[in-house]
Amino acid sequence: MKILVTGGAGFIGSNFIFHMLDTYKDYKIVCIDALTYAGNLTTLQNVMDNQNFKFIKGDITDRDFINQLFEDEMFDIIVNFAAESHVDRSIEDPSIFLKTNVLGTQVLLDASRKYNVKRYHQVSTDEVYGDLPLDQPNLFFMEDTPIHTSSPYSASKASADLLVQAYYRTFKLPITISRCSNNYGPYHFPEKLIPLIISRALNDENLPVYGTGENVRDWLYVEDHCIAIDKIIHNGRVGEVYNVGGHNERTNLEVVKTILHELDKPETLIKFVTDRAGHDMRYAIDPTKITNELGWEPTTTFEEGIKRTIKWYLENKEWWEDILSGDYQNYYEKMYVGR
Ligand code: NAD
Ligand code: TYD
Repeated sequence: MKILVTGGAGFIGSNFIFHMLDTYKDYKIVCIDALTYAGNLTTLQNVMDNQNFKFIKGDITDRDFINQLFEDEMFDIIVNFAAESHVDRSIEDPSIFLKTNVLGTQVLLDASRKYNVKRYHQVSTDEVYGDLPLDQPNLFFMEDTPIHTSSPYSASKASADLLVQAYYRTFKLPITISRCSNNYGPYHFPEKLIPLIISRALNDENLPVYGTGENVRDWLYVEDHCIAIDKIIHNGRVGEVYNVGGHNERTNLEVVKTILHELDKPETLIKFVTDRAGHDMRYAIDPTKITNELGWEPTTTFEEGIKRTIKWYLENKEWWEDILSGDYQNYYEKMYVGR
């Protein structure tokens, strides 16, 4: 089996590569990544010498590159992680989100048709469903919840999902889609809430919480997401969407306070800042379909996962300190100073 993983130098894609190389000793994995600000080759250094792994720098929006790659490699399965993934950046400048997330997906779908891949899997997000109100905790996102996006990021991911479904209906391309809740774990880029809070708390810097901090996210340890995608590409039904999440809802303030408690840092570091425009209130997944059809269930609780994540950030300071010392500094100043 030969699998193309796009965006594998990023957070979830890299964890998926580690999971697949560990689990299937006879699979070949090819990773392509454009190495944007979010892609980091040092993340993949432990697998670079693995005979079953190959890294190629490349952009999913580059049609000639993608067609040549598909011709050379003859993939069985495509798993598309490559994307612009940060909501705040999409509010600053939506253009690259449309280019990468929508047009890049189209390029991959066209190549998948042309070279008859056995499965095209689109890694999507629960953000395509918009948000849920805080006062109805019994409401969850189901696979047939209407698409109702809030940010340019979620709109671009939803557009890609619709395109993937259109290629199934019109061209019979064998596709699947997973829509997962917020992930956390090793190699998470420190612009996202959990790694941002861990890295800043370790440096005794203030911790920006948007609005009142009562927005709710449904957190899933990244390895559980990888296992879900593994199950879907092997046993998921073609043409289907699978929601992935584990009923681990927390307010942002609860998450921040948990991290402070684990690190033995004071809550006085918390600084409430101007809210995100269009900020989604609550995300919450109902994973009944993937549990019933594929036997998937999350294996890591939030309490356990957050401890493991903090331990990883403590033991791998070099990885995130390198990031913080580069362009990231300009990003932080632009987005947060005076907010
Ligand atoms: P990430 O930003 O950490 O990684 C994205 C990777 O894609 C980076 O390595 C980047 O260099 C690469 N990339 C960007 N543009 C590219 C292009 N044009 N061609 C090739 N590579 C390109 O993101 P992530 O958090 O790992 O998310 C991966 C996927 O999972 C995304 O599609 C995202 O929408 C989805 N997702 C993320 C979460 C989450 O909580 N992080 C939850 C659900 C779904
Ligand atoms: P984020 O990690 O950006 O994921 P998403 O917006 O895709 O859910 O943010 C998670 C939550 O944390 C979201 O409600 C916004 C909030 N947040 C803060 O309060 N402060 C921050 O500095 C960041 C990055 C996010």
